[in-house]
Amino acid sequence: MDIILLKQTAQTLVAPGKGILAADESSKTIQKRFDKINLQSVPETNLAYRKMLFTTPGIEEFLSGVILYDETIRQSIDGVTIPKYLEDRGILPGIKVDQGTEDLPNSPGEKITKGMEGLEERLKEYKELGAKFAKWRAVITIGENIPTDICIEANAESLAQYAALCQEQDIVPIVEPEVLMDGEHDLEKCREVTTKTLKIVFEKLEAHRVALEGMLLKPNMVISGKDFAVKANPQEIAKATVETFLEAVPKEVPGIVFLSGGQTPDEATVNLAAINKISPPAGGWQLSFSYGRALQDEALKVWAGKEENVLEAQKVFLERLRKVSSARSAKSV
Ligand code: 13P
Repeated sequence: MDIILLKQTAQTLVAPGKGILAADESSKTIQKRFDKINLQSVPETNLAYRKMLFTTPGIEEFLSGVILYDETIRQSIDGVTIPKYLEDRGILPGIKVDQGTEDLPNSPGEKITKGMEGLEERLKEYKELGAKFAKWRAVITIGENIPTDICIEANAESLAQYAALCQEQDIVPIVEPEVLMDGEHDLEKCREVTTKTLKIVFEKLEAHRVALEGMLLKPNMVISGKDFAVKANPQEIAKATVETFLEAVPKEVPGIVFLSGGQTPDEATVNLAAINKISPPAGGWQLSFSYGRALQDEALKVWAGKEENVLEAQKVFLERLRKVSSARSAKSV
């Protein structure tokens, strides 16, 4: 494990003003996104869409990294492999290495993430293909009598094993325990579950001797459930989120890169700005973004699967990136 390299990569990913684009939708998820524009997902349409995003002029000012899917890391743009294309533009290529979720046995409504089998070999191959960092997403659901301790612990254990395997290959692990926004719970419930989850995740990471300086955390914001009657405002979300991290995230972690999790692009932007405005130096971490939908939704809609819309979609994509980058720098958006 080359700790100097891991630290350098992690810090590059959270460089001032920059964040990560999550473009690692699995075949199933990209079809769900394409359903909104009535497009069939096949390798060619997936590539056309991602090429539109990646070739947008100026994105390197706001993007430090892009998370790719297995299919995409093997594709090329104008004869150059996508990892090389991105790196040549100063953007680090990353890779999703989990294989989605399945039901947790004996625990209705709960999920465990798949992908541990053969992970070491896959990481070696991805490294050869140019990946500098990786992502593993675990899902925690709030509902009646859930999450259970066993669900949090089993997912935290997998996250820690994955992170240790990544670091052995000098790949920076992004550790993503996502407490879902789905549900009728209030902000306090989200705070309680997120705090507990993060504490257990860091216990496991330490038990597996993961170098915290060479990883990034990708959490949810502390936010009320989608179906809760009263929406928390950005200041309430910011306060609860920052307090949660101060309680549960060790200061050695160089960066926290949020997922957007179903927030609209505007919500994810305004909330990130509010968080950065009140973030005290005590944490020490950079508070940045690793958004999927919040960065892509507007551009996908404008693109609509048509070549003639590429320039307009790129304009919309760049504008959203500019706003999210400003939010990450605590400038007004
Ligand atoms: P969203 O920002 O759309 O939640 O996606 C981020 C991600 O990478 C989920 O794993």
